[in-house]
Amino acid sequence: MQLDLSIIIPTFNERENVQKLVELLHQAIGEKIKWEAIFVDDNSPDGTYQEIQKSAKAWGNVRGIRRVGRRGLSSAVIEGMLASSAKFFMVMDGDLQHDEKIIPKMLAAIQANNLDLVVGSRFVGAGSTGELAANRVKISRFATTLSQQILKIKLTDPMSGFFMLSRQFFEQNVGRLSAIGFKILLDLIASSKTPPAFVELPYQMRKRTAGESKLEPIVVWEYLLLLLDKSIGRFIPLRFMMFVAVGLSGVLVHLGILYVAINLNYSFVIAQIIATIMAMTSNYILNNIFTYKDKRLTGRKFFQGLLSFYLACSFGFLVNILLADFLFELNNIWWLAGLLGAVVGSVWNYGMTKYITWR
Ligand code: GDD
Ligand code: MN
Repeated sequence: MQLDLSIIIPTFNERENVQKLVELLHQAIGEKIKWEAIFVDDNSPDGTYQEIQKSAKAWGNVRGIRRVGRRGLSSAVIEGMLASSAKFFMVMDGDLQHDEKIIPKMLAAIQANNLDLVVGSRFVGAGSTGELAANRVKISRFATTLSQQILKIKLTDPMSGFFMLSRQFFEQNVGRLSAIGFKILLDLIASSKTPPAFVELPYQMRKRTAGESKLEPIVVWEYLLLLLDKSIGRFIPLRFMMFVAVGLSGVLVHLGILYVAINLNYSFVIAQIIATIMAMTSNYILNNIFTYKDKRLTGRKFFQGLLSFYLACSFGFLVNILLADFLFELNNIWWLAGLLGAVVGSVWNYGMTKYITWR
């Protein structure tokens, strides 16, 4: 059967909201629309998936995808859409904060006007942020201002997590998505080569009654990464930018430790060796946390990774020195030789550790 609408609901620790949401959706949508709900749960420790299973048994149009060892709202939503064959997709939170009653109106709008997108907005007409804490509203406003740089259209609520899109719009852009963090709507719009045809419909955000928000500091960080990836990321891979940033922090670590060790009366060679090892170790740890967050090595793998990182980076070091020396002999411009040596060395380290350490 060709479904009209797939409602994609990412969940993490929403146990008490799942069954209630499924009931509300059935009340709000009615019989005329052929729809399904796909929950995408990242193996929540609170047992959300068991609740999804109960709903799936009770209703024929509810199913769940369980992702193990993965986290991320945007990537969850993308995988939900990829698992569906409906003509349109709805994305909404699993915590009852989004108003399911406007879904039929959204579907009517997208079908009648042949739109790419219909966005539920808290900032048009009768829309409101409800009882959302004042500082959350401020953060949202600020994030909205930042987003104008990468969007080709003017939305009142680009931070919205409540929107509908056509399959066609999704398929045109799925290959270009960054899939980082929380802001899948922004990702979709910024990935599109042409400005999407859209309308915004107002809704009033409800208060969360069970469970808690996952909007933690890391979400802000991931938002900045998304903005970066959608701007300069077209020219320089985001991971490489992060790798270089970590490398620069390593230079500071190196100089700091060198300074301390020399003041502790170690010989220069010993001080330099200690500083080098410490800087490589701190680079490894930071890259493992930030640059390769999605492939983070833990337990025994952490130490194996560290060894391979040392190995790859010492070759990189050699490449850097040999090349810089060769260039310096050639043209005598010290900073150019030094810079090119460092750049080639980091590209080498990046390439090697990408395939050896975090493969
Ligand atoms: N699968 C999965 N994986 N789901 C997640 C993850 C994750 O890592 N993190 C959060 N979720 C789910 C939550 O369980 C919830 O159903 C939904 O994504 C939104 O998360 P909340 O933690 O409730 O976010 P919020 O209320 O602070 O913000 C939401 O609403 C805003 C207003 O529309 C988000 O959708 C924002 O993007 C949006 O701006
Ligand atoms: Mn929420």
